[in-house]
Amino acid sequence: MTVVDEQARAAARPEEAAASSGPRLFAVRSLNYLTNHVVCHVPSFALRRSWYRRVLGAEIARSAGVHLRCYVWFYGPRQTRRDGFHIGARSLVGRSSCLDVRGGLTIGEDVSISPEVAIITAAHDVEDPGFRVVDRPVVIEDHVYIGMRATILPGVTVGRGAVVAAGAVVTRDVPPFAIVAGVPARQIGSRPEEAIVYELPGAPALFE
Ligand SMILES: CC(C)(COP(=O)(O)OP(=O)(O)OC[C@H]1O[C@@H](n2cnc3c(N)ncnc32)[C@H](O)[C@@H]1OP(=O)(O)O)[C@@H](O)C(=O)NCCC(=O)NCCS
Repeated sequence: MTVVDEQARAAARPEEAAASSGPRLFAVRSLNYLTNHVVCHVPSFALRRSWYRRVLGAEIARSAGVHLRCYVWFYGPRQTRRDGFHIGARSLVGRSSCLDVRGGLTIGEDVSISPEVAIITAAHDVEDPGFRVVDRPVVIEDHVYIGMRATILPGVTVGRGAVVAAGAVVTRDVPPFAIVAGVPARQIGSRPEEAIVYELPGAPALFE
C-alpha cells in the first residue's frame, strides 16, 4: 500500500480519512507488515486462515486454504469487513498469489487458484487529475480454475466452472464454463458442464 494509494483512497472515501495519518496509519501499516511479511510465511494453513479471519475480518471456510507467501492487499480491517473478503469451502489459493481485497473479493467453493495469480480490485483512474483510486469488486464463482500467473482485473466476474489459462490477463467478465486465454483474455473453448461435479480435497492443517 503506497502513500499515494492511502491518500487517494481517503479522498475517495471520507470515512477513511482518519486512516491516512497518525496512529491509525501506523496501526494499519503494522498490520500490513505482519500479514504480508510475517504471517504469510508461517507454515500452517490453520494459523494463516485464523489470522485472516480474526484480524482482517475475512470469511474463509474452514476447509479452504491460502498457501504460503500470499500478499493480501487491504486498507484496514474495517474496510475488509465492509467490502468483503470471502473464500468458499475447499477452495485453494496458490503460493505467492496476490489477493487484492480493497474493492471486495468473493471466491466461491471448489475454486482452484494456481501459484502466482494476481487478483486486483483497485486501480488509479488515469484520466483523473487527482489520480484517484477506483475500487471494483471481483467475483470468482464456484469451480473456477485459474492457471499460473494469470491476472484478474478490477470489476471482473469469472463465471461458474470457467477456466482462465496460465498467463492470461482477464479484463472482462468470463461466462460460465468458458475457457479463456491470452492478453487480453479471449475465449478459446468451453468446459463440459457435466465435468463440474467434483469437490476439492481442501487444505491440510500444516505445511504449505
Ligand atoms: C487453459 C488450459 C487448461 C487449456 O488447456 P487445453 O484445453 O488442453 O488447451 P490446448 O492445449 O488444447 O490449447 C488450445 C489452444 O489454446 C492455446 N492455449 C492454451 N493454453 C494457453 C495459454 N496459457 N495462453 C495462451 N494460449 C493458450 C493453445 O496454444 C491452443 O491454440 P491453437 O488452437 O491455436 O493451437 C491450459 O492451457 C492451461 O493454461 N492450464 C493451466 C496450467 C497451470 O497453470 N498449471 C499450474 C497449476 S495446476
